[in-house]
Amino acid sequence: MQVIETIAALRRVRAGLAGTVGLVPTMGYLHAGHLALVAAARADHDHVIATIFVNPLQFAAGEDLAAYPRDLPRDLALLAAAGVDVVFTPAPAEMYPPRYQTYITVAEVSQGREGRARPEHFRGVATVVARLFNLAQPTTAYFGQKDAQQVVVIRQMVRDLHFPLEIAVCPTVREADGLALSSRNVYLTPAERPRAAVLYAAMQAAADHYAAGERDPAALRGAALAVLHAEPLAQVDYVSVADARTLDEQTTPTAAPLLLSLAAQFGRPRLLDNWLLPAPLNTRAGL
Ligand code: PAJ
Repeated sequence: MQVIETIAALRRVRAGLAGTVGLVPTMGYLHAGHLALVAAARADHDHVIATIFVNPLQFAAGEDLAAYPRDLPRDLALLAAAGVDVVFTPAPAEMYPPRYQTYITVAEVSQGREGRARPEHFRGVATVVARLFNLAQPTTAYFGQKDAQQVVVIRQMVRDLHFPLEIAVCPTVREADGLALSSRNVYLTPAERPRAAVLYAAMQAAADHYAAGERDPAALRGAALAVLHAEPLAQVDYVSVADARTLDEQTTPTAAPLLLSLAAQFGRPRLLDNWLLPAPLNTRAGL
């Protein structure tokens, strides 16, 4: 496995790769969710490029950029064991040299939910992901359903800017009690950790109502909120029921697939999760 820190070296190595390339962008501190993306890329492609870069542009002032968990030696061992060919792990100054000044804003689908809680977040994500696409020139890039709005933003960018690649979406990997794996889960105290499964329980409540025929978005939101409000440790940020493709918040019943998404501050970390109604997302069809 080649570990590369500079853009020049990545370009050189990429130019030498014949066949198809799967790209897995990450911010490191890898868990089984990330590794599921790597496994999918490995299964589908001749070469796999993973990136580890804690992208400062997608963190607002006051967020956890400096404290974001990192463990590069462990990450590299995991990626090597998973059969990755190339890891790109640039320093911030490599990606944002002095006078860097080009940014990508994906206007509408970046609004609401994570975009409301974190106004500059998706501009940072789109900007770095577009540049990783340009550098790695993947056949397919792999993202997790865990960050559903991110997937919609990136798909829109790919369409609008004509990137010649496919986006593959992998299902959310969860702990046994339903908590979605996240690098930020390490911030949960042992007392908080079991109670964080309330996010999953809230989604299940809404999914149960949906399965029983409920289509009123307010009632679906209400079912999830009732569960969250019963957990004093959860400070609810939002519960959204949106059209899964446009991300328009829904107020009236619709036959369109719905994305239920929610976020809550839970002790130190802010946790998010989502669920597609009626069906769980499958790898390629979904959002
Ligand atoms: P990061 O949070 O490290 O996540 C990297 C990828 O792993 C994302 O596509 C994310 O959706 C996926 N992922 C995270 N947790 C998952 C889980 N439990 N199951 C399945 N997939 C999961 O998302 C980012 O980094 C950044 O925004 C990035 C795209 C790298 C741009 O900086």
